[in-house]
Amino acid sequence: TTAATFYDAIGGAETFRRLVGRFYAEVATDEVLRPLYPEEDLGPAERRFRMFLEQYWGGPRTYSDERGHPRLRMRHMPFRIGPIERDAWLRCMHIAIASIEPATLDDDHRRALVDYMEMAANSMMNSPL
Ligand code: HEM
Repeated sequence: TTAATFYDAIGGAETFRRLVGRFYAEVATDEVLRPLYPEEDLGPAERRFRMFLEQYWGGPRTYSDERGHPRLRMRHMPFRIGPIERDAWLRCMHIAIASIEPATLDDDHRRALVDYMEMAANSMMNSPL
């Protein structure tokens, strides 16, 4: 049978939990990114990002139920995001994506995820340096 959504095709909630969990494990020790996060506990930020990605890729719509329209560029305006922050964020994300094995994330889905993250990280920049 063919999975109806990208979300289902890559293993649904379990895969998103692992992906975002690994991403935030990297953020927690990243000296560029960690200071940007206002809360001491990264758990709530991890959950918001996971809900957003699940919704974006066709999973449950919990993000918008709780947070409304994503408006991500606007929500990132309080944080200065230049090329250094963008690169740090993508470094963490590439590690997280690489941690999902090929049996779960095949080449086509992997490439789609990487392309999206690179596009989205570029679009989130709000500072030239
Ligand atoms: C929130 C940093 C890129 C999705 C945040 C927060 C920070 C941050 C500091 C606040 C944490 C919180 O939720 O309390 C960054 C940096 C980026 C980046 C430095 C570098 C480019 C992205 C990208 C996406 C994204 C590319 C989507 C693909 C989100 C979401 C939230 C968030 C969904 C929570 C928004 C809400 O309040 O509902 N980000 N981010 N971020 N970020 Fe990013």
